[in-house]
Amino acid sequence: MKPLISKIAGCGSYLPERVLTNDELATKVDTSDAWIVERTGIRQRHIAAEGEFTSDLAFEAARSALADAGLAAADVDMIVVATTTPDYTFPSVATQVQGRLALGHGTAFDVQAACSGFIFGLAVADNFIKSGQAGAVLVIGAETMSRILDWKDRATCVLFGDGAGAVVLVAAEKEQDDLGRGGTANARVRGVLSTHLHSDGRLADLLYVDGGPSTSQATGYLRMQGREVFRRAVVNLSDVVVEAMTANGLTADDIDWVVPHQANKRILDGTARKLKLPSDRVVVTIDRHANTSAASIPLALDVAVRDGRIQDGQLILMEAMGGGMTWGAGLVRW
Ligand code: UT7
Repeated sequence: MKPLISKIAGCGSYLPERVLTNDELATKVDTSDAWIVERTGIRQRHIAAEGEFTSDLAFEAARSALADAGLAAADVDMIVVATTTPDYTFPSVATQVQGRLALGHGTAFDVQAACSGFIFGLAVADNFIKSGQAGAVLVIGAETMSRILDWKDRATCVLFGDGAGAVVLVAAEKEQDDLGRGGTANARVRGVLSTHLHSDGRLADLLYVDGGPSTSQATGYLRMQGREVFRRAVVNLSDVVVEAMTANGLTADDIDWVVPHQANKRILDGTARKLKLPSDRVVVTIDRHANTSAASIPLALDVAVRDGRIQDGQLILMEAMGGGMTWGAGLVRW
């Protein structure tokens, strides 16, 4: 039997209806549309309605990805949800989605790597598929960041939004499609080519939530040393992108689309500049979605697939960095 590879069979996303603009935010906290746009590129964010939870967003994104893949829920044998904002301490969001999809087989669990969560979830799913332990996996990034924001802290509350995105990965035998330009033989097949994960727990204090079930009764609020996170993001993201390209014998010229975690437009521009990647090959959604943490990559992916930018056979690079600190990248031949 040929080795297995994970192919992306479909993707989908969901955004809550309510849009909060910078101008509206400026009536609640000492900030301005001009400051937010200039320093971050954010113009608006979506906010979950009262009573609308992360599992609701995740479920909608899952439904849309399954429809795109042309698969029934019953075809799925694993659900991985990347989230930092679960509805409850337990059960996991993944098992809640499994229940809403009326599934009693296979398995479902959450992974937590803050803003890098989707890349971590993708890596977990890809490895289960490659080892033959799963055949069709829903990988979902879903967040209600609005619930862990200190709405009095202008340095953080303007940055984040709510949303969910999902992909369906399916196991396929690795065929030499001879696609693409350059790279190793592996780089010319369709599917997830490689994933690369990193973390440095010594840097946990740079970005964290100051509460949780084992420390207090309160959920806590997101705290960030923004300038230091920014500085490290450009360095670590550039390094992990080079690592991913080198592992596949590829260069920046081979990449068709970069679908990055959307934390700050200046981080996207700085990383692209450092890697000599033209900015028109970077998918940017931060203006509309703000930073939706683990949801930002699958949300951006879905936008670029729906508007026709991402085409079959193209090489897609995903990268993210977040609290932990965690960071990672994934290369996919669409
Ligand atoms: O997704 C996980 C990873 N997260 C990130 O990658 C975020 C990384 N960090 C950043 O994106 C940026 O550091 C921020 C957007 C958070 C901040 O931008 P900055 O250019 O680094 O600003 P700063 O923190 O150096 O603050 C500059 C000034 C300060 O005033 P003074 O001390 O110069 O008088 C802040 O108090 O801007 C002030 N400021 C604001 N002013 C208006 C901070 N937040 C605001 C605000 N509105 N919302």
